[in-house]
Order: sequence, then C-alpha cells, then structure tokens
Amino acid sequence: MSVRDYLTNEDRQWADAVIEKIHHKLTAVRERSATKLPAETNDGVHDDKLKAAGNVGIAKGFWTNGFWAGMLWQMYHATGDERYAEIARFTLPILDGCLLELDTHDIGFLWLPTAVLDYKITGSAAARQSALTAAKWLMGRFNPATGVIRAWGGGNEQMALSRADPPMHLAGVTIIDCMMNLPLLYWASAETGDPRYYHAADHHAAKAMRAFVRGDGSVIHICEFDPDTGALVQDFGGQGYGKGSAWARGQGWGLCGFTASYKHTGRQEYLDTAKRIAAWLLPLIPENGLIPCDFRQPAEPWVQDDIAAGVIATALLDLAELVPEEREAYLGAALKILHALDAQSADWSPDTDNITLRGTAGYHLPGRNKNYVYADYYFVEAMLKLAGKNVTIW
Ligand code: GLY
Repeated sequence: MSVRDYLTNEDRQWADAVIEKIHHKLTAVRERSATKLPAETNDGVHDDKLKAAGNVGIAKGFWTNGFWAGMLWQMYHATGDERYAEIARFTLPILDGCLLELDTHDIGFLWLPTAVLDYKITGSAAARQSALTAAKWLMGRFNPATGVIRAWGGGNEQMALSRADPPMHLAGVTIIDCMMNLPLLYWASAETGDPRYYHAADHHAAKAMRAFVRGDGSVIHICEFDPDTGALVQDFGGQGYGKGSAWARGQGWGLCGFTASYKHTGRQEYLDTAKRIAAWLLPLIPENGLIPCDFRQPAEPWVQDDIAAGVIATALLDLAELVPEEREAYLGAALKILHALDAQSADWSPDTDNITLRGTAGYHLPGRNKNYVYADYYFVEAMLKLAGKNVTIW
C-alpha cells in the first residue's frame, strides 16, 4: 500500500494534474538551468552557485546544491523522460570535486538527492561510489563524546548564526536539520554491511531526541554541547524567531528526520517522537494551509515558509502510512498544505524558473517570502508520493 491508496478519487486526479503541471513547467525550466547549480530564484530566474562570488569550493558545495538535480531525478523516475536524467547528471561531479573542502554536516542533503537517487534509479556504480565516499566524510564529523555529528567547522571557532543569538562554540554544536543527513549513513551501512555508519546515525538520533524535542513536542533549532563531556551547554533560536520559538522548518526537519530514523532502525521511540511533534504542530497549521516561518513569530509581518510547508507535508505523508490510527489527521493536514501551495503559492508559468513563491531562509536573515529551489524539491517530492511515483531517499 502507498499513501495514494488512501486518497479520494478527487485527490488522486488533482495530484496527477499537479504532476502534469510540474512536468510542463520543468520541461522549459530544465533547459534554461541545464548547466546551473540553482539555489533560489530572483525575478523569475534561477541564480547559479557556480557563478557565486567568494569561496568557490564552498559555493559549489552550498548545502542546497543537490535539490535541483534531486527534483530532476525524481521527475525522470516519474516520467521516464531521458532529458531529466541527462541534466541531473551535471551536478554530481561538481559536488564530488569539492567534497574535501566541505566542513559541514550537509553532506546528506547534498549526496542523497544526487548520488543516492541516481544509484537507486539507474544502478550507476559511479554514483554509488560517490555516495559511499561522501558517507565516509560525513562519519568523520561524529564525536563519540557528544554522541552527535558536528554541524559546522572543523576547529575551535565561535560564530553567531543570527542577530537574535549570542555566539556559539562550534566544536559542540549540532542542529535539528542534521536528522536529514542521517539517511546517508543508514544507507551506507545497508549498502556495505559495515555497521559503523548505522551506529553513528542511531547515536545522533537518540541524543537529538532527548535534547531537541521539548516537553510540549516543539523542536529547538540549535544545541551546543560540551565537546568533551556531551553535557548540554545552551540552545539557540537559530533561523527561527528567537530562543524558545518554534522555527517551522526545524519542526519539519524533526518530523521528517525522526520518521526516517524510525524507518531505518525500527526503533519505536523515534516514531513516537515524530508523533509527538505532529500532535503539537497539527493544530497550529493556519486555516488557509500556508505555513509561517516560525509557529511562534509575531502576527505581523506575515513571514511565510513554503520550504517548511513541503518538508512538513512530505513527512506527514510518510507518517500517514506508518500510523494507521492517525492516518486521517496526518493525510488531511498534508493535503491541506499541498493544496494551499498549489492554489495560493505557486507560479505555473513555464516562463519563470520557480514553482513555489514564498520561502524564507531564516526569520532574521535576508531573503523572506521568495523562492528557494529546495522548497520546490520538497513540494515535488510530496506530490510524487501522492501520485505513487516517489523514490525514497530520507
Ligand atoms: N539546513 C538549513 C536550513 O534549513 O535552512
């Protein structure tokens, strides 16, 4: 059974029609962006991280650079249109070329939608090798003393992520987003038979479950641990409104990430954690189905996050399959969000490069209410689940 089996005929037809609209649009967009690494869209045109100023290696390995190729691979699998695969293949060699420059946990976000997806769809031995090499690099960030994968940097740096937060000591820092990098490690263990990757991921998930998920079910963005003892030092609001707030994308990363860890380990406590996050979050979804940047942000100005919307929706679709007693609630909420994106926050013209309209990088960061490529990826992934055509990577 897939989530499609639980849809009404009307929603099945709607999902198929949206996939048609995506295909129609991407058939034009893919040619314009065939040799780009797009991260966002400005005035309807994809930017290109290959042309970004500054540290060229890091721009090439910018954490969202896998999502354009991921969207193309997913659509290749759904349609069989070879042109998607031809263009999707552009990204991976560039990522492989800068792997050793990447002092970040975002390796899963980069290699899952590119190398792992390519391997799962085409069986490419080169893509498999690339993903395994990336998994080894990610493993190097695991600190047995904290029990987590370090988010950023490789030394003793201090950094303030947002003007709402004090500086943090990066040696002990991890973020809820990292839950989405764990599936690369679970995949590497399953693929090779080497349990090290699995155990690092499982340790990280267990620690994150205890440290990041509050008593009410909401999720913290950033935790700093003592890098030698693993004790919690402090937490931060990060990309959300502030300390104690509930950054919507972070809720999504937690929801999707703990669901993924359950799928890979079978540990009931991870599924229960995802259910707790969902129980807290579902009543907060606005009547119009559009998701704010932070569930605890002030009412004005309205800051929207279509990225969070797609992540939350795709996670709820997985949960709807896994938790029969809550299926109606999870599926209903996911459909509400996806209908809202389609009807109220999407641009279906083939003349512009963006699908979704209003993502937000972070409450206090530049770039509110605009398109980000990973918003489009998660919207497409969720819609493909409704169409019964998604390839699972998380
Ligand atoms: N992983 C960083 C973000 O979600 O913006």
